[in-house]
Amino acid sequence: MFYNVSMPYQIIHFKEIDSTNSYLKNSHRLLDNFTFASTDYQSKGKGREDRVWESNSGENLMFSFLIKNEELMKLSAVLSILTAVEVAKEVEKYDIDNVSIKWPNDILINDKKVCGILLEGQVPEYLVVGVGLNVNQKEFPNGLRRPATSLSLETKEDINIDELKERLFKNIVNNFSSIKLDDYLDYFRKHNYLLNKRVRVLINEEPYIGEVVGIDDSFCLQILSRDMLLHIDSGEIEIL
Ligand code: BTN
Repeated sequence: MFYNVSMPYQIIHFKEIDSTNSYLKNSHRLLDNFTFASTDYQSKGKGREDRVWESNSGENLMFSFLIKNEELMKLSAVLSILTAVEVAKEVEKYDIDNVSIKWPNDILINDKKVCGILLEGQVPEYLVVGVGLNVNQKEFPNGLRRPATSLSLETKEDINIDELKERLFKNIVNNFSSIKLDDYLDYFRKHNYLLNKRVRVLINEEPYIGEVVGIDDSFCLQILSRDMLLHIDSGEIEIL
């Protein structure tokens, strides 16, 4: 058990596991708020939209954390965005430029994906936030939906995963213990990958085409389309 400024947290590390998200989902009854599960390798890593998350063994940071705190659970709609902000801030510490967050929660460096986040769970019981950050992997499979990169490809240096992990976990526990939503909004608005892009979004199966003009106070994506200002709170966005 570790004690941060205000909250205790614990870390369970696996050499190998099916998925850290699945582990915390299956064990949530036995574990406390802010239990982190990290691993060197996942045999059944999960991505968003039922996709597979593949990652070389020992080269990247893969972890999930359990939320059981009532106040945080109320923020379930934005927790993955808040996590993306914490990870993006950490990425910027490596002097990497052009770090942005692609709504709702991918982290990109230039146009390449460096981190994905998967939120699962059952409010009001528990939530699991899973993070896959490419750290030292140098080669990625062809045919990914979006080209990928890693911290070491960007910095041309190998990164100490344990140090990164320790800092990130502490910041998450610390900042999530007294959330300042305005700070997160401010960061997200300054790092909004989709800003000014022409996009297509499905609303009730109907396609809307428009331009992204911002993020509203509830972290929804604002799209100007058909002379209306749309506020999108979930779904997939296609860039045109
Ligand atoms: C995405 O599709 O972009 C989300 C990827 C999330 C991957 C992480 S890796 C750790 C955690 N465990 C999983 O099975 N998935 C998440």
